[in-house]
Amino acid sequence: MSVIRSVVTGVGAYLPPKVVTNEDLAKFVDTSDEWIVERTGIRQRHQAADDQPVSDLAFEAAKEALEAAGKTAADVDLIIVATTTADLTFPAVATIVQRKLGAPVGIAFDVQAVCSGFVYALSVADGFVARGHAKCALVIGAETMTRLMDWSDRGTCVLFGDGAGAIVLEPGEGQGTTDDQGMLGFALRADGTKQDLLYVDGGVSTTGTVGKLRMLGNQVFKHAVVNISEAIHSAAANAGVEVADVDWFIPHQANQRILAGVAHRCGIDEEKVISTVAIHANTSAASIPLAFAHGVKDGRIKKGDLLLLEAMGGGLTWGACVLRL
Ligand code: UT7
Repeated sequence: MSVIRSVVTGVGAYLPPKVVTNEDLAKFVDTSDEWIVERTGIRQRHQAADDQPVSDLAFEAAKEALEAAGKTAADVDLIIVATTTADLTFPAVATIVQRKLGAPVGIAFDVQAVCSGFVYALSVADGFVARGHAKCALVIGAETMTRLMDWSDRGTCVLFGDGAGAIVLEPGEGQGTTDDQGMLGFALRADGTKQDLLYVDGGVSTTGTVGKLRMLGNQVFKHAVVNISEAIHSAAANAGVEVADVDWFIPHQANQRILAGVAHRCGIDEEKVISTVAIHANTSAASIPLAFAHGVKDGRIKKGDLLLLEAMGGGLTWGACVLRL
């Protein structure tokens, strides 16, 4: 049976040039390279310049993804940006990216699901593309997480970084089988009762300030491995594949120990895990497309490969996606 799938036709990434090492942080916060590497796997993170809003990062990643897809801004009819660190309270970053790209009038909006934002945004974009409402969609994960840091809180400020990743989604004809290119299955989850584990303590309709990120890291950790594993198995079941069939696992990059724990629990060979946490740290909604682009650029991820994406973040929200490139 012929079906329309939303197919990834281009991937792009952008990292701001400034690199902050663990040693750099240890100069002003009570931490050490040894502790950060041992507990998280993080060695460095990128940090956006003060005059570099998140839309600039998203714009650069989008340009690269369009070029990889052989498309121009004139082709784009849908832009979704997953972000929790917008330039302004409104308008959406997506409309700012649309203006910067010079893309024509179309659909543009942001998705807010914190670190799970990219997986959520992909499922929304899939709905538009697979139903024929968009022919060339940009799905972007972009963050300036370092702007939300309390630099006196060593439990959080060493964990996050800035960056952006983007993909182009286009409709493609499939046969309704798991050999089709494109999105095959999703599992999205949220549990608002866990808000206190990970949140920002400011906002427009409460404090009137931006606020700082607060996290009970070890409690989030405990939820992460169990919940992500369930979502992975559900996404695989919805896609009609076995987790063992996956060629590459592209997880949200929060902590190397979580990546390894989830891979172990799901029976995924560690050789199949794309890990960029050491060099990017946790870039929230940007981390999956950044890792995706990394794996494509270094030649590991190839056309036809079966990919498994997963994330977990504030809300709590979490989810997974299975697609064939
Ligand atoms: O992307 C959204 C999802 N987020 C996550 O998935 C993050 C999940 N959580 C984690 O990755 C880990 O829980 C952390 C990396 C945040 C923390 O690792 P942990 O092994 O859970 O450490 P802990 O919070 O239980 O703290 C252990 C000790 C504490 O000292 P005491 O009380 O045992 O004396 C902390 O004060 O480590 C201390 N500590 C640090 N020491 C040096 C916490 N942060 C630091 C630090 N440097 N940066």
